[in-house]
Amino acid sequence: MKETKENIHPVLEIKNLYKSFGDNHVLNGFNLKLYKGENLVIMGKSGSGKSVMIKCLVGLLEADSGSITIKGLDILKLGRKELDVLRTEIGFLFQGSALYDSMTVRENLEFPLRRNRDKVDATQTTEALVKEALENVGLGKAIDLMPSELSGGMKRRVALARALILKPKIILYDEPTTGLDPITAKEIIELMRTIQNTYKTSSLIITHDVDCARVISNRMILLVDGINYVEGTFEELSKSKDLKVKAFFKN
Ligand SMILES: Nc1ncnc2c1ncn2[C@@H]1O[C@H](COP(=O)(O)OP(=O)(O)OP(=O)(O)O)[C@@H](O)[C@H]1O
Ligand SMILES: [Mg+2]
Repeated sequence: MKETKENIHPVLEIKNLYKSFGDNHVLNGFNLKLYKGENLVIMGKSGSGKSVMIKCLVGLLEADSGSITIKGLDILKLGRKELDVLRTEIGFLFQGSALYDSMTVRENLEFPLRRNRDKVDATQTTEALVKEALENVGLGKAIDLMPSELSGGMKRRVALARALILKPKIILYDEPTTGLDPITAKEIIELMRTIQNTYKTSSLIITHDVDCARVISNRMILLVDGINYVEGTFEELSKSKDLKVKAFFKN
């Protein structure tokens, strides 16, 4: 993994992001730069605004102010059509998987393809794309099952396959290992590494899981009170003497 340098343009940049709900000031000038090919981990305690930040990124919430630039385009200034195109380059693994319970695994994976079929390989059938995405997460046989028939780990894999089906260049993971047993969590982390190597993706990973951060991160940001508290490598942050930083590394 090559070093990130200030003179290289980030694939994704957030500048001075603010978001409040009434008098609940959640994001208070948050910044980040995600460089090509890197895994950037965001840590912050529960309720600190991590999911709100990621939802602003994908347009599920509207930021109050600030800028979000993806591949040099300010998403807050784009028209609907341009935004739709850009969104297909971002895969999002929702906190808790968030599969559609009334749809089969196949239908869950077909869903993102419905509006964006022209964005992916026209030589492949939809069936082949769905099968390939499932095989990539080791779940080729689960295609006709309902979400209720899957374990937590399998659901996470299906959600990951769905996030990958449009072959995005940027993947956002919101707590990919939370709620899983340690062995399944390790398998998901391994899968994330494989995905990064295979698809050469850049990833933003929100996690409380210190093992996940250790294995996966190239760089980390700690979010406190809606703003960057500290940034650095896992090594640097895990050795910090700062009490707020230390609190995250206690197992
Ligand atoms: N749609 C919403 N409307 C009003 N308040 C919201 C909304 N979404 C989030 N919040 C508030 O924003 C704050 C941050 O929530 P967020 O979900 O981003 O936390 P988080 O850092 O992801 O926590 P966790 O680690 O538990 O997932 C919380 O106080 C929450 O109540
Ligand atoms: Mg969250």
